[in-house]
Amino acid sequence: MGKRVFESLPDMSKARNRVRAPELVYENIQVSPELASFAKGKGYFIKTFGCQANVRDEEIMGGYLVKAGYHRVEEEKDADLVIINTCAVRENAEDKVYGEIGKCKQHHLRDKDFILAVCGCMMQEEGVAEKITKSYPYVNLIFGTHNTHKLLDLLSEHIARKKDIINVESFPGDIIENLPSERLDRHSAFVNIAYGCDKFCTYCIVPYTRGRERSRPLKEIIKECQELVDEGYQQITLLGQNVNSYGKDLHDGTNFATVLEEVAKLGIPRLRFMTSHPWDFSDDMLEVIAKYPNIMNCIHLPVQSGSSEVLRIMGRRYTREQYLDLVKRIRAKIPGVAITTDIIVGFPGETQEQFEETLSLCEEVRYDSAFTFIYSPRKGTPAAKMKDDVTRETKLERFNRLLKVIEETTDEASARLVGKTVLVLADGPSKKDPSVLSGYSEGSKLVNFKGPAYLTGEIVEVKIVENHCHYLVGELLEDPLLLKAKSLKKALGEEPALKEFLELEAKIGASEELRSLRKQIEEAQRKMVRLANDQEAYLLAKNEYMALMNRYQGDPLILNRNAVKEEAETLLRKVAEELS
Ligand code: SAH
Ligand code: SF4
Ligand code: F3S
Repeated sequence: MGKRVFESLPDMSKARNRVRAPELVYENIQVSPELASFAKGKGYFIKTFGCQANVRDEEIMGGYLVKAGYHRVEEEKDADLVIINTCAVRENAEDKVYGEIGKCKQHHLRDKDFILAVCGCMMQEEGVAEKITKSYPYVNLIFGTHNTHKLLDLLSEHIARKKDIINVESFPGDIIENLPSERLDRHSAFVNIAYGCDKFCTYCIVPYTRGRERSRPLKEIIKECQELVDEGYQQITLLGQNVNSYGKDLHDGTNFATVLEEVAKLGIPRLRFMTSHPWDFSDDMLEVIAKYPNIMNCIHLPVQSGSSEVLRIMGRRYTREQYLDLVKRIRAKIPGVAITTDIIVGFPGETQEQFEETLSLCEEVRYDSAFTFIYSPRKGTPAAKMKDDVTRETKLERFNRLLKVIEETTDEASARLVGKTVLVLADGPSKKDPSVLSGYSEGSKLVNFKGPAYLTGEIVEVKIVENHCHYLVGELLEDPLLLKAKSLKKALGEEPALKEFLELEAKIGASEELRSLRKQIEEAQRKMVRLANDQEAYLLAKNEYMALMNRYQGDPLILNRNAVKEEAETLLRKVAEELS
């Protein structure tokens, strides 16, 4: 008897099939006693490649594993179960996966109970599962995108039968609700609104790996978003391969504009969505984006090519002119909107003129940023069979030329922000320098600024002082402690130190006398700078400044505020530690 069981393997022709209607299934998780006792105290680690759909799948798989008794570990080396969650969109994404599987061999040599699973989009391709089982015989589980919710059953089966299981299904896909989830971020969340894709762009593997386009019931989306709002999340990103196709399969009049509006109304501070397809971009959507200030003015609008002929062969359903017209309509309705895109260079047979059209389109649109890719043939897609006489060198050369134009417009968009104040959602301390916080502006620009870690998850005002093209450097405008105190006021209720601190801050802000003193201090500072070269006058100005400062620091309001500040700070630090 072999050690491996092939239960089902992918079939691209079945994956192309869009006949069967998706079923709506409400999950009711059962953990077998055998799995519960096996998983107890064990750690899991999921390595995810690819897009946000995969990141969300990681969170859902994490949810199932925690239900079974596993816990998440930060490092792969500490895990008893490693899942490699793969992406098939381009060849280089696939190469990385093989390297990652190779790295896991050591685990098996060390620990006979170690489980290695491989899942995700790449598994949905014909031949990949077989190749993996041959080259990496220590892989214990292979499953696809349609049975991530069967993870616990597959694990139970592997443990009970002591066999490696390969189970990848190719079918249009169902909608599973009541999914468990271990979110990877406490402030920013992804919410799936639709799965799959029916567009079948000729270069793209996604419709085969993710199944037919199917919309989640609106009430389930709202329920999930409401929970996130209640938990204090600051940002929701609505996910779908084509979010604006939402509702076409529901036949009840709901569309993406409805979802966007209903979620915006829940009061989440920041609402984003991705990806919107130019073909389905409605005026209703634009109205809603313009109407709600919590919908971020940032639209990712993949163009793929600037040539109408290439777009036709790609199956994108719009022309260059229609795309440019849409950009105009968006900018007219939402002034200052950031527009970003995806572009493919070197599509089969792309002529020099057609490539130049992509360059000129980018010069005209002046994207805030763009993801650029060299075309990668995907087996089973129509484009993979097309004649391609463009050499690798030409493709690379075009890619570099395009990159230059994109860098130029990205830099230009970033430079426009210098001197301006933007709102940034602080993601956390930067890896390079823990005293620096990183986050994104409303228009999705990366901003670094000095600030304490306890501001993670807060939306703060930052003045932009430097442009580095792909990121900006800013300065926090408000006192960080004050910011955090305000934000925690609700959560901490009547905490005396904090209450007193905030009341004193409010009084300081309202005091005419202190305001006038602050003005005089600023004037004295400017005077000192002006007189820096004249020692005598400088000393006089400095004395004047010191006297004013003493008066300011000696004011009872300031003295009391400073006395309570330390206590409030200790309290916040403790809360921040508990939160992390
Ligand atoms: N659903 C999204 C995109 C998903 S894939 C959309 O339609 O916008 C993300 C990006 O990868 C695509 O926008 C495209 O630019 C790129 N891409 C997809 N297939 C590719 C291929 N075969 N070669 C190179 N890039 C590809
Ligand atoms: Fe792929 Fe096109 Fe669907 Fe996007 S719209 S996922 S590029 S087939
Ligand atoms: Fe990759 Fe699958 Fe996303 S192919 S881009 S992980 S949908």
